[in-house]
Amino acid sequence: MRIITHERTGPYRIKIRDIEGAEKVDSNSKLLEFEVEFCGCGLSNNKPFCDGSHEITEDEDLSTVYAYDENHQRIVASKFYRPNEKL
Ligand code: FES
Repeated sequence: MRIITHERTGPYRIKIRDIEGAEKVDSNSKLLEFEVEFCGCGLSNNKPFCDGSHEITEDEDLSTVYAYDENHQRIVASKFYRPNEKL
């Protein structure tokens, strides 16, 4: 098991024109304006793409740590301890 923290509550939006190799596409192509959304919240069931699961993070309080289970049920984690931290 691994716990990874995310502060982002929405996707990374990247236009095709910003991806390496895009210069090979015809500069007049509408494809260059096409935008892809990559998951930034860590909750998508379709990674690396955003599937809208981030919506459940929109009411999070910035001073609180939350955990979500595989069914996206929220758990409020009151405290995390670092390996060398005294309890
Ligand atoms: S940013 Fe993660 S599901 Fe949208």
